[in-house]
Amino acid sequence: MQTVAKLMKVYVTRRIPQEGMKILSASSVCEVSLWDSDEPVPRAELLKGVQGTHGLLCMLSDKIDAELLDAAGPNLKVISTMSVGFDHLVLGEIKKRGIRVGYTPGVLTDATAELTVALLLATARRLPEAVEEVKNGGWTCWKPLMMCGYGLSGSTVGVIGLGRIGMAIARRLMPFGVKRLLYSGRTAKADATELNGEFVPLDTLLAESDFIVVSCSLAPETQGLCDKAFFSKMKKTAVFVNSSRGAVVNQEDLYEALTSGQIAAAGLDVTTPEPLPTNHPLLTLKNCVVLPHIGSATYSTRGIMAALSVQNLLGGIQGTEMPSELKF
Ligand code: NDP
Ligand code: DGY
Repeated sequence: MQTVAKLMKVYVTRRIPQEGMKILSASSVCEVSLWDSDEPVPRAELLKGVQGTHGLLCMLSDKIDAELLDAAGPNLKVISTMSVGFDHLVLGEIKKRGIRVGYTPGVLTDATAELTVALLLATARRLPEAVEEVKNGGWTCWKPLMMCGYGLSGSTVGVIGLGRIGMAIARRLMPFGVKRLLYSGRTAKADATELNGEFVPLDTLLAESDFIVVSCSLAPETQGLCDKAFFSKMKKTAVFVNSSRGAVVNQEDLYEALTSGQIAAAGLDVTTPEPLPTNHPLLTLKNCVVLPHIGSATYSTRGIMAALSVQNLLGGIQGTEMPSELKF
């Protein structure tokens, strides 16, 4: 008698780049349900779609909590997120159920660092505002003080969270002539010595930095870290940049700091919520540059992230090695 192996079921919550889909289609071990859209799957659909599934490939905007895990049921062996951030995963519930987690560290470090540097320069040198002036006729002639901003040469840069991305940002900023690199976090980093990085208390970083870049992960200890007290310790001429997660910042306090002259400018690649409503007060400010969470958005990086997420998913459903498994 011939036995036919039953295919494992996997659910993919968004259209993903071809590099990932090709691996998934070529695999003979699973049957794929794909939410075939660039827009998020509605929660009710997701709860229905995951029923009985063995593997889930999700995005950072999908909340993976007890309700979802219950809806999936006991077959679920692996959650593979197409992101390095995993703050959308309720790890306690996932661990309780013995489910493995895959994520995408490292492969998006360069793209995210590059974007963060671009955002810092755009914010400090007022690029969106300057482009607008050209278009609206505000550019009447060369003026000594027109569109002046802040330069990196001779400056002090403070990085909050000198992890993979924080370090890659620092490496790219130093050649602009940065004089001092300060960083804060939970632990001093050995590779910071290559840049003469100084591990300092957060208050020192806030008081002495001309540019502050947030690149830590979102955790209970970092949620709302950048609040009224935080901004009040910064220099009035300092530029604040966040490419980690929106919830690290108290946006009401940031708005107040930007409008009262407490700080010079802010560049945000991440906000709360995402998307930021188009009538949000921060979007009315000339000294605030907001991007739609595009840190890792290069074609090549997104392709690699998709492929890695699928490999994690396939390893997880088969109970074999996952190339990037989160240990928690
Ligand atoms: P890493 O784990 O390498 O770095 C995280 C950093 O956060 C570490 O330096 C860590 O410091 C720091 N950190 C953690 N907890 C705290 C804390 N309580 N206080 C201060 N610092 C803390 O991750 P990556 O560099 O790869 O990614 C960082 C984050 O960037 C991701 O979690 C994600 O949220 C975000 N991201 C955003 C992207 C975008 O598109 N804008 C793209 C990719 C990532 P320590 O080592 O001392 O614990
Ligand atoms: C991540 O991976 O966590 C980013 O936010 C998106 O690439």
